[in-house]
Amino acid sequence: MPEIVLKNVTKRWGNVVAVNDFSLKIPDGSFMCFLGPSGCGKTTTLRMIAGLEEPTAGKIYMDDKLIYSSEEAFSLRPKDRDVGLIFQSYALWPHMTVFKNIAFGLEMEKLPGQEIKKRVQEIADLMAIGDLLERYPSELSGGQQQRVALARSLAPQPNCLLMDEPLSNLDAKLRVDMRTELKRIHSETKQTIIYVTHDQLEALSLGTQVVIMNEGKLQQIDEPMEMYKNPKNLFVGEFVGTPRINMVRGDLIEQEGQFGFKSDGIFFPLKGIEGLRAGQQVVMAVRPEDVRLTKPGKESSFVFTIYSTLPAGADIFARIYKNKTFFTVRQEERVIHTPETAVGIDFVEDSLLIFDAQTENLLGKTSLIKKG
Ligand SMILES: Nc1ncnc2c1ncn2[C@@H]1O[C@H](COP(=O)(O)OP(=O)(O)OP(=O)(O)O)[C@@H](O)[C@H]1O
Ligand SMILES: [Mg+2]
Repeated sequence: MPEIVLKNVTKRWGNVVAVNDFSLKIPDGSFMCFLGPSGCGKTTTLRMIAGLEEPTAGKIYMDDKLIYSSEEAFSLRPKDRDVGLIFQSYALWPHMTVFKNIAFGLEMEKLPGQEIKKRVQEIADLMAIGDLLERYPSELSGGQQQRVALARSLAPQPNCLLMDEPLSNLDAKLRVDMRTELKRIHSETKQTIIYVTHDQLEALSLGTQVVIMNEGKLQQIDEPMEMYKNPKNLFVGEFVGTPRINMVRGDLIEQEGQFGFKSDGIFFPLKGIEGLRAGQQVVMAVRPEDVRLTKPGKESSFVFTIYSTLPAGADIFARIYKNKTFFTVRQEERVIHTPETAVGIDFVEDSLLIFDAQTENLLGKTSLIKKG
């Protein structure tokens, strides 16, 4: 099972820099999710690992073995890289049945017929297409075709699987089912999987590690929870998590001897953060589940007003405001407040993220100083 290493990989097409000086180590056996907005270079990176695209500069290694080097003008042929591929647009062989499509890779390996039959049936059942084996691709829905493509790539159990939005054509329910199956398959086979998605929830729930890209550049690589809790910059903080993280632009100031954050006429007294001083322009950000609604007056000195309430089944979200500042809150209480109700707010300990307003990098985490 291979470890894959990218060293200073860049891909340019004329003026377009699709991937910009990208260095990354994909540990053996990991389920690495590439996450980022459309056009950030995810597919290009995957294609370079597979050998379908040549980097403009940089090196790629698989298990210490050089597979690409621009300097040495060396490129191992795609078929010698032992990777399985599943792409956004998958092409099934139209003249072959579903069975033949899935069995193709196994037949190339010259496995005995009985063994092939067994493996195809197993993987097809897992993908919920076990009763479609005699059909032709043209007789399948888009979602079914996508599952056949998945089964075809999984069947030969390649050392490394590269998947580019393999679930994009499936409906919401199937998508969740397939995620469960993929995660299960990974925990059983321990194949190295590189999985491209622009769906942050998919990346968080599948990945052992998540890589966030923006405009061809690596933003952060971390375990999903770490990424969520400690985003290195505003882009990552904003990209990961729904509803979106709350962000307020303002200044760190000292008011009546108290350090804090001020924005829109509201002063939040804060615990000091090492290296931070009054006078700095920052963005304060906090996740919806880290904002707590309280009773106004007694428990909190901040009085906000309910703007609207958005029940979402298991959770109830509220939009609250004061002056021009809005927060989204995941309520702890299952109550639907009427608009214009006054509420107090509080923040979970150590949940306030402070970012530099210019560089947008995380400067530190802090807490509100409570009244009394
Ligand atoms: N063959 C090509 N020629 C010129 N530019 C290209 C080519 N392929 C990709 N690009 C450009 O490179 C950038 C990255 O494209 P890429 O397909 O890697 O994005 P992506 O992250 O996979 O996006 P999506 O989520 O939409 O699939 C884009 O700006 C794209 O227009
Ligand atoms: Mg893509």
